[in-house]
Amino acid sequence: MQFEFALQPLFQGQIITVWDRARLQGLSTLLRAQIGEIIDKMGASSAKAQNLPAIITTLSRIITSDHRLYIYTEDALVKGILKMGRKKLFHRDMIGGIAEINPYCCLDFYVHESCQREGIGRRLFEESFKLDKIPPHKIGYDRPSPKLISFLRKHFNLSKFVPQTNNFVVFDAYFEPGWKEDEKKGGFGSKRLTQEVRFTSSESLQQTSSNSESKVTSHNGEQQKTPGKEQGRSSASYLASPFAVDPTLDNPFNSNTNSFDIGGGKIVTNSCQEKEW
Ligand code: ACO
Repeated sequence: MQFEFALQPLFQGQIITVWDRARLQGLSTLLRAQIGEIIDKMGASSAKAQNLPAIITTLSRIITSDHRLYIYTEDALVKGILKMGRKKLFHRDMIGGIAEINPYCCLDFYVHESCQREGIGRRLFEESFKLDKIPPHKIGYDRPSPKLISFLRKHFNLSKFVPQTNNFVVFDAYFEPGWKEDEKKGGFGSKRLTQEVRFTSSESLQQTSSNSESKVTSHNGEQQKTPGKEQGRSSASYLASPFAVDPTLDNPFNSNTNSFDIGGGKIVTNSCQEKEW
């Protein structure tokens, strides 16, 4: 994407730059207006590419959150963005156990149509890993599009997850032992997740989730008081995905389908059957 002002004063020749509240607030009025134009336009293009009813990445949202935005620029063009931030989520596993988790999440991800499939998305992810030290399998993904699902399977071999009603995908590998967040040295979100795995029975889930509704934040950073009626990514766009579960269902887990393996093109059900799709 091209802009009518020089990018050099903002990006100083760096291909990938990272922007958060502190860095944005430190800019002069002129530079802040320019980065605002870049972020708002890339955010709008991202929303359009995903058929979202609302734009979820804007300057004002970054400046009023703890989110971090990676911007990819090259040859005087802005080519991609990746927005990351932490979210508190309830995650239901295959057998109905509930974990309250606080993963670092991929909240918005967009590479301009003119340069998709050239490795820019992967470079943005690698940069995030360099800085944040959180590997892709330990990240939550806010209602990933089919392209992102394909990207994650191709680059990181991530394919298995249990569909959730909260629009996020947390891969099964997230829960596997062998990597602890507090082992990494510093970096964004280095707070230890003491409550990361707190399983409860499905009966107490109803109590927990109704008591805790106001604590769970939605993809757009607002508190999610009424699950399934959030703004931003619409149910329609979610349902367009072949991996989707209808988030408006009261309890989609009543169905037999409890785990997806999109890598193998099979669905593993409660009763250990496999379905081709
Ligand atoms: N169709 C299917 N898969 C695609 C496509 C596409 N048009 N574009 C990229 N991919 C996937 C494929 O797995 C591809 O590998 P392949 O070419 O061998 O099939 C792989 O990504 C390519 O990797 P990169 O070149 O590193 O990825 P890219 O720079 O294209 O960025 C991204 C990936 C961000 C998903 C980009 O395609 C895009 O912006 N898509 C439109 C917006 C979107 O869907 N964003 C994700 C929304 S969900 C969220 O933000 C949480």
